[in-house]
Amino acid sequence: MIVTPREKIDFGLDSSVGRWWFGGDAYKTRVVDGFQLTFPDGERYFISSVRGFRDGVSDAGLKEDVRAFIRQEAQHGMQHMAFNELLKQQGIPVEAILKFERKALKLMETRFSGRFNLALTTAFEHFTALLADTFFANKATLAQADERVRALLGWHAVEEMEHRHVAFDVYVNSAKGGYLMRVGAMSLAICMVVIAMYRLSDILLRADGFSRAQRLSMHLKNLPWLLGRKGLLSGMLPRILDFYRPGFHPSQAHDLHNYPAWLEKWNETKDPLQAAQALYDAAH
Ligand SMILES: [Fe+2]
Ligand SMILES: [Fe+2]
Repeated sequence: MIVTPREKIDFGLDSSVGRWWFGGDAYKTRVVDGFQLTFPDGERYFISSVRGFRDGVSDAGLKEDVRAFIRQEAQHGMQHMAFNELLKQQGIPVEAILKFERKALKLMETRFSGRFNLALTTAFEHFTALLADTFFANKATLAQADERVRALLGWHAVEEMEHRHVAFDVYVNSAKGGYLMRVGAMSLAICMVVIAMYRLSDILLRADGFSRAQRLSMHLKNLPWLLGRKGLLSGMLPRILDFYRPGFHPSQAHDLHNYPAWLEKWNETKDPLQAAQALYDAAH
């Protein structure tokens, strides 16, 4: 896979995207929106973590990949910022909600070493690559989603696959990071993902007008969807645990099998919706 930045893409996202774009399902929508809320700040954090060790990269190929990684992540941040504007139009107090995450990121950047922040970035990058596979390898997962949101997530997923090795290689080759630090970072990252997922989806559902009792019942009812035997998150667990193997490298992690379908359609049309449809059609 070649790390290819694709800039200024128009997904046609506007206020006509339904509030609950995931098949009218408030819970599923807000779980994914919770993740999306964190992306612009998260991408900035990933970029600055990698940038801190960019100068120590000696391999010309990796240097080029780092440049392309930064451009890809910057675009992801911008596109998700635009999506978050749509949430604001729905009356979601995005800035107030994100105060907590922003404080946490700042604390991490000031209290942790650059190397540990990069280790955390490699852990989160493993997550995003797995999320790409989780969302797009099978048709059933996003069958009910609005096609424009699916196109946004599809493009992001494809590029996460393309650059999944970059932060890891910078961590090993330039930051000289070791095994214990990266698995410690992954353990912290898992906790952060689960806490953020429940915290943010709950706040979003409250903003949608659901009472505490209604939200509790939604969380319980959707436990199997998230954490059941074939749940969205629990299904990722074996591959999250791959990261704990001493010889792990992201390139060994499962490829998104339908990636070539997206790429071919994108190269032919430069239309993210058609490319996402090809990705969807080629899914299992
Ligand atoms: Fe990204
Ligand atoms: Fe990424």
